[in-house]
Amino acid sequence: MIRTLLALALGGAVFGAFVAPASANPGKALITCVGCHDITDAKKQVVGPPLFGLYETKPTSKGISFAKWDKTSLDTWLKDPAAVKPGTAMAFKVKNDKKRAAIIEALAELK
Ligand code: HEC
Repeated sequence: MIRTLLALALGGAVFGAFVAPASANPGKALITCVGCHDITDAKKQVVGPPLFGLYETKPTSKGISFAKWDKTSLDTWLKDPAAVKPGTAMAFKVKNDKKRAAIIEALAELK
């Protein structure tokens, strides 16, 4: 029993290492988003639209006129959503430049 558990734990660790390289941990960078956004399923609407598979697609929310979500548009949006879409329901800003960059990197990996 113990041996089986140990094998499972080790197997999981090795498998995990292959699936998620140490540099890529989207969940960590997006921890402040998951209260309102699903990050694992491209179809699941929570408070806001799903973030999974969002990178390089067109915005789904009305009133956001970017051609697609990329580094520049995401940076502008996350800095101040209300400046992009007055009256937006996303009452959340990421003011820190480094945090925004990490979030955008994580979003690009969510696919
Ligand atoms: C308090 C809830 C809340 C939080 C926290 C939040 N969002 Fe949002 N987000 C929303 C809502 C609501 C919308 C829809 C906005 C609208 O239609 O005006 C939205 C829209 C978006 C969109 C536009 C998607 C599209 O295609 O239309 C992006 C991108 C986005 N959020 C990214 C993020 C990221 C990244 C984080 C974390 C750093 C985050 N949001 C945190 C509520 C939130």
